[in-house]
Amino acid sequence: MRTAIVTGGASGIGRALCRELGRRGAHVVVADLDGAGAERVAKECGGVGAALDVTDPQAVQDLVTAVRAERGRLDFMFNNAGIAVGGTTDELTLDHWDRTIDVNLRGVVHGVHAAYPVMIRQGHGHIVNTASLAGLVPAPLMAPYTATKHAVVGLSLALRAEAAAHGVRVSVVCPGFTDTPLLDHANPGLPQTATGAGARRSAVRTQGRLYSADSLAVDVMRGLARDRALIVAPASGRMAWRGTRLSPVLAVRAAALAVRRLGGG
Ligand SMILES: NC(=O)c1ccc[n+]([C@@H]2O[C@H](COP(=O)([O-])OP(=O)(O)OC[C@H]3O[C@@H](n4cnc5c(N)ncnc54)[C@H](O)[C@@H]3O)[C@@H](O)[C@H]2O)c1
Repeated sequence: MRTAIVTGGASGIGRALCRELGRRGAHVVVADLDGAGAERVAKECGGVGAALDVTDPQAVQDLVTAVRAERGRLDFMFNNAGIAVGGTTDELTLDHWDRTIDVNLRGVVHGVHAAYPVMIRQGHGHIVNTASLAGLVPAPLMAPYTATKHAVVGLSLALRAEAAAHGVRVSVVCPGFTDTPLLDHANPGLPQTATGAGARRSAVRTQGRLYSADSLAVDVMRGLARDRALIVAPASGRMAWRGTRLSPVLAVRAAALAVRRLGGG
């Protein structure tokens, strides 16, 4: 039976991934800072829950080692846990920057560092990192978030090129605004900002309808089956990404207009 670890599995996109993996017959280890939430989702997908803080490298290593020992294999490592941080760059503190980097970037690094050698040894495996559309296009009013998500895209594509020789696959998921609790608790444990408090409203104004986590999970499974390097959804996100590649200068101009519309400058 294929075995998957999903970090940030207790809520939103991670929960939808766990449920979809469970439906497809995988054994899912639902790992989350919210241990009780992880247990709840584990019941929904027939897997097991684990309390895990992805900012703790030893804890991530211990979980990967334990899962490999118990199951004899690790097929998927979904490095999905993340936090939303928003605000104008002048109002954000270094704590906003540090916390975003610790969870959204170092959290992914810890997952890769623990799972990749295991997958090399077994000669197969798929690392799936959740970045964001903000990792592909200029996304203002959330510079630390945007920086970490661009880093996760870069990390994933570089690793994919190396990993192929070992039979290990790497994909990066870049969702547009998705309807999850993330949009209701931006800047967790950090000084709140107007942008952070209004994240859901701004997301709706920017994208129109929010994408559903369940639809995204189906997109991700399809992308993984096709071994896609980048999985970008919904279609409006793919258009924004294409536009940015065609003209980065125009993309920044459009982003500047959005800042004015959203009252951030
Ligand atoms: N919702 C969106 O609009 C959107 C868009 C693009 C990308 N993403 C990304 O998708 C991923 C999942 O986000 P979501 O929307 O499902 O959010 P969510 O808030 O619903 O779920 C995130 C989960 O991560 C967990 N988590 C947070 N910090 C953690 C830590 N240190 N260790 C372990 N778990 C931790 C939370 O407890 C939560 O259960 C994130 O990486 C996010 O940046 C979300």
